[in-house]
Amino acid sequence: MSVAAPPALEVLGVTKRFGDVLANEDVDFRVERGRVHALLGENGAGKSTLVNIIFGLYRADSGEVRRNGEVVHLNGPRDAIDSRIGMVHQHFQLVPVLTVAENVVLGNEPTRRGVVDLDEAASVVRALAERFGLEIDPWARVEDLPIGLQQRVEILRALFREVDILILDEPTAVLTPQETTHLLGVLRGLADTGVAVVFITHKLREVMAVADDITVMRRGKVVGSAVPAETDEASLASMMVGRSVELSLERTPASPGDKVLTIVDLVVNDDRRSQSLNGINLDVRAGEVVGVAGVEGNGQRELVEAITGLRGVVSGSITLEGVEIAGMSPRQISTMGVSHIPEDREKFGLIGAHTVADNMVLNRYHQPPYSRHGIRSPGAVEDNAERLVAEFDVRPSNIGAMVATLSGGNKQKVVAAREFSHEAKVMVAAQPTRGIDIGNIEFIHRRLIEYRDAGMAILLVSAELDEVLGLADRVAVIYGGQIVAIESADGIDRDRVGRLMLSGTDN
Ligand SMILES: Nc1ncnc2c1ncn2[C@@H]1O[C@H](COP(=O)(O)OP(=O)(O)OP(=O)(O)O)[C@@H](O)[C@H]1O
Ligand SMILES: [Mg+2]
Repeated sequence: MSVAAPPALEVLGVTKRFGDVLANEDVDFRVERGRVHALLGENGAGKSTLVNIIFGLYRADSGEVRRNGEVVHLNGPRDAIDSRIGMVHQHFQLVPVLTVAENVVLGNEPTRRGVVDLDEAASVVRALAERFGLEIDPWARVEDLPIGLQQRVEILRALFREVDILILDEPTAVLTPQETTHLLGVLRGLADTGVAVVFITHKLREVMAVADDITVMRRGKVVGSAVPAETDEASLASMMVGRSVELSLERTPASPGDKVLTIVDLVVNDDRRSQSLNGINLDVRAGEVVGVAGVEGNGQRELVEAITGLRGVVSGSITLEGVEIAGMSPRQISTMGVSHIPEDREKFGLIGAHTVADNMVLNRYHQPPYSRHGIRSPGAVEDNAERLVAEFDVRPSNIGAMVATLSGGNKQKVVAAREFSHEAKVMVAAQPTRGIDIGNIEFIHRRLIEYRDAGMAILLVSAELDEVLGLADRVAVIYGGQIVAIESADGIDRDRVGRLMLSGTDN
């Protein structure tokens, strides 16, 4: 009689509290060798907490973690690595000034006569990259790499240590659709070699495409499990959120008014001082959503940064209701009525060591009603925060919590709440739903349309073509730093937009 082998990883009855927050409650979770296991759940459901416990970064208050049937006590990443568990974090943990090879071997460097052997490291990395289809230049400096390649470095780091469990916390949130497809293929390949893969994502399409097993969490608990063959996106969405969710938005046509934001012949350089916008012409009218579609890295980021004052302009003009704003500071531009949901909320949108309440008035704290004659009024700051936390369903609903302790999606809700609350004339929304769960995406999309209907001019930049096509009234395709097409979203040909995005032409 044969006895079934114990699972690669088993979590039994794990509970974890942070102060008043029950982040994990009596969680059971089982991961088998050779399978991709998707972990789903709304923002703040406890997914990152659970995988951080598995990886030994957090210690559970109670419950246990078993590896191959044996209870393990991991006290940090070192132990996890010794136990052959690897993790790609929601926020990368690379050393930017080091090369790809140095980052991959960090902590386990090959040496020759006591010195780190960089040539050896590079050839090891090259071989690993080839084996797993993760091509990369071992000598490139990590800080010079686009985010999709930085993620490859993280994955290679884990694979270098020959893990047999690989955990990825929202790896596709930062990837283009092409990169995502590639990564899903890599995960499938890893599972086929016997690795147990734990994959956290908010995108149900990816789950349906790659998962063998699915576990769903809500408010700290496991609320269900499924296999793709016996479920669909709609039922996964309602399992996650606890109610049925509209997967596509019902909306009325726009009734655009005057031009509010006008961009003429805009030329902007990128970080390496080479031209990244080569004469952009674009306008956004009151009461319309203009969506910028494009493969990431074609100038979208520079366009957003130029409009919001985060990047200097080489030539050309950006006017807000006829007033030149190019060259003004981000604060001046914001005060004049341009709101901005930034792509990188950690860098531009939030201050982690400040409270939710303070972050809700960032850039505004020096103005009435938050401050009068140079004196701050904490009451007004708190009232504002209480109102927005309730309206945007930020969890936990504690306005005194430090933003750094919020889950990824709840951080994004804080930024969105603040920027929507400005009563701005223009909203520049860059990847506004990145990292956000399906219920909150629905909420933010509704908001964008409500503000549009109230007369706001909205510029939406998104790597998700579906998001652009679902929300925009006009679609501008950006390619190589130029707008190669602008057309009404009505009856637009999705395939043609895809071709324009990839080559700048539609043939
Ligand atoms: N270090 C911490 N201190 C205090 N609270 C925390 C900490 N880490 C997580 N939490 C809280 O625990 C809960 C679960 O958070 P977690 O990050 O696990 O959610 P998540 O499912 O990964 O969400 P998301 O999809 O938004 O990333 C949240 O309410 C969060 O605010
Ligand atoms: Mg998380």
